[in-house]
Amino acid sequence: MCGIVGYIGKKRAVDIILKGLSHLEYRGYDSAGVALVSTDAAHIYKASGKLNNLKEIICLENKENISATAGIGHTRWATHGLPTETNAHPHTCNCGSLIIVHNGIIENYKDLKPELEKKGCNFKSQTDTEVAAHLIAHEFEEKKDLLKAVQSAVKKLKGAYAFSIMHKSCPEKIIAARKNAPLIIGIGDGENFIASDIPAIIEYTKKAIYVSDNQVAEVKADSVKIYDENGNLIENKIENLPFEPIALSKMGYKHFMLKEIHEQPDVVRNALVDKIKDENAAIILDDVKLSKEKLAKINRIQIIACGTSLHAGLVGKYVIEELTKIPVDVEASSEYIYRNTIADENTLVIGISQSGETADTITAIKQAKEKNSHILIITNRKDSAMARMADSLLPINAGIEVSVAATKSYMAQLLNIYCFAIYLAEHTKNPDVKAISDIKKELLTLPSKLEIILNDTKNIQNISKKYSNSKDFIFIARGINYPSALEGALKLKEISYINATGYPAGELKHGPIAMLDETMPVLAILNKGVVYDKVLSNCEEAKARQAKLIGVTNFIDEKHKNLFDDAVIIPEISDIVSPALNIVVLQLLAYHIAEYLGKDVDQPRNLAKSVTVE
Ligand code: F6R
Repeated sequence: MCGIVGYIGKKRAVDIILKGLSHLEYRGYDSAGVALVSTDAAHIYKASGKLNNLKEIICLENKENISATAGIGHTRWATHGLPTETNAHPHTCNCGSLIIVHNGIIENYKDLKPELEKKGCNFKSQTDTEVAAHLIAHEFEEKKDLLKAVQSAVKKLKGAYAFSIMHKSCPEKIIAARKNAPLIIGIGDGENFIASDIPAIIEYTKKAIYVSDNQVAEVKADSVKIYDENGNLIENKIENLPFEPIALSKMGYKHFMLKEIHEQPDVVRNALVDKIKDENAAIILDDVKLSKEKLAKINRIQIIACGTSLHAGLVGKYVIEELTKIPVDVEASSEYIYRNTIADENTLVIGISQSGETADTITAIKQAKEKNSHILIITNRKDSAMARMADSLLPINAGIEVSVAATKSYMAQLLNIYCFAIYLAEHTKNPDVKAISDIKKELLTLPSKLEIILNDTKNIQNISKKYSNSKDFIFIARGINYPSALEGALKLKEISYINATGYPAGELKHGPIAMLDETMPVLAILNKGVVYDKVLSNCEEAKARQAKLIGVTNFIDEKHKNLFDDAVIIPEISDIVSPALNIVVLQLLAYHIAEYLGKDVDQPRNLAKSVTVE
């Protein structure tokens, strides 16, 4: 987490850095800071809270102090120390000459600190980053060269870092370094940029160099030099960046989350267009590099992911097992790691991640790689660390997702999982041709059915308003929609801060039912299919305890009409594809409740979009 931006060129650095940081706020938004460096002067501004607080401080500044054409900036998601102004980056050495911003965690900072204190370093913050500032400053005193100082200092650091570093005595350069944290260098004409992610610089350049682990870069206005860990000058490819600046606009919607929810019909079309021509044509998945022989040997699948991606994985278990009969285990990445997981070369390990940067999942994938399992990565970021670890890569192409709460990326993950399940099924010895063609047919109807829900959200808005003052919420479902209940509850709690829990409907009576009374809304997902009647019975049990019942369903008969206090009727859809339709109702419900409560929908408290710490 945390976002860093650096600029060196001809323009006023502060404008470019602040704009860039505003596009990186999804990485953390509890405090921010910038350093503006010109010949022999460095001005540092920091503020706790959102970036706007920093902008206000800078607005009041003397124009001369902010006229520098080089600088570095940071938006923080606190790991070490409270989100205060003192702990905000940039950090400096004692005299303020060496200035650094950092994304990542220096794991051995406690080992390094006493030695530095003995040498006279005066620590002002509680951060791990300040250790790096003092360490590099000491190396600089010895070597009198910032590049060499950084190259030497990073050898002593353990953990993860993306750094941008400046020194008052050499304002014509920024040194950048990376290990296990993303970093790109944007290439301009007489100007260059440093950033944690593409959105920060896409307005200014479409060309960038991806810095790899253990590389150190010297960035000047008219040159970029990259060095490997042995100090050799190397050449990294200049790549074309995939995004358009338009992706960063709300396009008239009040929040990015609402815009992204409404983008989902197109996300589905996009996911299917090159893969499923019609229900009878074989699925095309060019990205999957599993040979026929390898496919035949797969006897076990493990899906590892976190949060919303984990819920997509849980849907995947139902779909893959249904279509292929291969056993699938789904586990939170943070639980998969640090135990002896049972996997071998005949295990297919699927990592799912929107960002491709999630530290827990990266560690889990590394662990699976050591067991020679085939690694399939399903991600929205083809350029991410996880994508680079993949044996097969399934890019979900949802487009940039700005809202911290994942919506369209979940949809794209689901669609790609459906496609992959179909692909596996088509490669089994005795594929169930009818089941495969039915699911393809249903998937192709999905965009128009999503549009039916999205074109009239009045009922969902009214229900949201009615229940927006609830303190708790329960979501229930069975079978393939149990993950939908989990995801609906997660969406609601992360953006509205209402305590919401998803349960398998059959589990209600094993404990949670004790919480039910007239103040507790229970949202039930009922799809006409094998478990429909069972969920109905569980709804009756909840109603008998006076809970307020909300139904999300594609079918209610006359005799059950009065069971529900409120209902959202969705279009007819098969059970197996229904999670992709139901979830939109739950996303809208969470969105409108949070909106009525006046919450910061796109940037909920304490969260960050990309969780790069374990
Ligand atoms: C919820 C949400 C998080 C992420 C989780 C994994 O809306 O966004 O729960 O799903 O942090 O992130 P990725 O998918 O980037 O690995």
